[in-house]
Amino acid sequence: MAVFHVLLSWTAQALMFLFFLIFIAFLGYSLYIKHIHMKYDHIPGPPRETFFFGHSRTILRLMKNDEIIHDKFLEWTETHGPVYRLNFLHYVTLGVSCPEATKEILMSPKYSKDKLVYKKLFNLFGQRFLGNGLITAQDHEQWYKQRRIMDPAFSSLYLRGLMGTFNERAEKLMDKLSDFADSKTEVNMLHLVNCVTLDVIAKVAFGVELDLLKNSSPFPKAIETCLKGMVHYVRDLFFQFKPKNKPFINEVREACRLLRTTGAQWIHERKTAMQNGDDVPKDILTQIIKTAGKEESMTKEDEEFMLDNFVTFFIAGQETTANQLAFCIMELARHPDILEKVNKEVDDVLGMKQDISYDNLGELTYLSQVLKETLRIYPTAPGTSREVPEDMVIAGIHIPGGVTCFFSSYVTGRLDRFFRDPLTFDPDRFHPDVTKPYYCYYPFALGPRSCLGQNFAQMEAKVVMAKLLQRFDFTLVPGQTFDILDTGSLRPKSGVVCSVRHRNYKK
Ligand code: HEM
Repeated sequence: MAVFHVLLSWTAQALMFLFFLIFIAFLGYSLYIKHIHMKYDHIPGPPRETFFFGHSRTILRLMKNDEIIHDKFLEWTETHGPVYRLNFLHYVTLGVSCPEATKEILMSPKYSKDKLVYKKLFNLFGQRFLGNGLITAQDHEQWYKQRRIMDPAFSSLYLRGLMGTFNERAEKLMDKLSDFADSKTEVNMLHLVNCVTLDVIAKVAFGVELDLLKNSSPFPKAIETCLKGMVHYVRDLFFQFKPKNKPFINEVREACRLLRTTGAQWIHERKTAMQNGDDVPKDILTQIIKTAGKEESMTKEDEEFMLDNFVTFFIAGQETTANQLAFCIMELARHPDILEKVNKEVDDVLGMKQDISYDNLGELTYLSQVLKETLRIYPTAPGTSREVPEDMVIAGIHIPGGVTCFFSSYVTGRLDRFFRDPLTFDPDRFHPDVTKPYYCYYPFALGPRSCLGQNFAQMEAKVVMAKLLQRFDFTLVPGQTFDILDTGSLRPKSGVVCSVRHRNYKK
């Protein structure tokens, strides 16, 4: 009995001591947060909702209501100026729209991608996702090595060689649209252009025929699920701990696994072809295989690393372009005068010609302007962020080091300060004779970590748009919303449902 009492008192004392330690740790952490607040509170920003969670509740509320987080960023920028502060625990994030700071930070390799977001995307709810691939790689050396190996698959010489594939895949879309026009059926344009861009990336990057306009495939849904999962995983730290989210989380893990197992299979097939001495294309898949170690010394990590880039290209190389195309169709349908002008250009440059050449793309200057203007109002990959470890001055405000700076092309593209009457769709803003926007328009990001697929994407978008304009008239089915859906990338909520009719074009 005495022993029991002694044990009980020891346990009680140990518990007391543990509580004391937790209390001290809690007090210490609270003081640290207070110190951070005092260090950064001279930077303007919206009021914190709570001491610990700062502004995160506002963000979670927006997500819950299906609102666009970037509209809030725009509102904060308009209220607080070119640099504003947000807090979450001891983290400080600054929304930056000052062009000089944008130039200084994004153009320099010195500022690495922000760990809070990009390191997280290594996996999704415990399932490896983008890993150390090109978008998420933190370490400069590791990123630089990959980027150099990938560069040849994006050189202008190589891209010229892809014109055949762009034409051929876009032609399949035209056949499908022709059926819709004949049967006078309404068309969900977002769905169709999604099929085309996925077909293109599968063919061009990995040498695989999906032919999604004819065949069904689990990939579009898997990509969408991964993107949705990404948003919850990054923006809501507690999402994974809520039991009601379990089924969705399992779905996300399953979608990631599908992409990775598909990658493993396609890589295996390509390697076998290489070993057999077959003639393989110098495409993205071949370059991905080169980014890993030598065949004889290939480790499990090397294999995983190849899959990281496989998933990276599958995700990055497809739906951003599809969403741009859908937004572009939506805006043209809303602006008959602009549609008429771009139609005229396409008719002048292409006439009845079926195959669009690389040189034709250069001649379609107004279409380029239309595509640029689309990405100003609807930057489908809306932002990027960098760590700023050292003190600096932004817009005259001293910024102590240790913050994350967030750059939103959505915000800068919609600021009256940079683009007068910003919500008006006006491709003439990008007329070749007009001064280029100064570090306030960056839908493909800027500097060393800017989009590797920018030229690829714009060539593809132009081929699809030019053929569509050459062959069809399209009008929006009435009663649709023009709202944006924020799934990490931005897409038109309505799906852009159109009626299509043949134009005067004969094959
Ligand atoms: C309209 C279409 C596209 C848009 C708006 C877009 C936009 C962007 C943006 C904003 C980034 C920077 C991401 C960040 O910092 O987190 C990026 C990176 C990247 N994009 Fe794109 N992208 C598009 C199409 C493509 C395509 C078609 C490909 C490949 C075929 C591609 C491949 C990449 C890669 C590999 C990176 C990472 C580059 C690096 O860090 O070295 N993108 N893209």
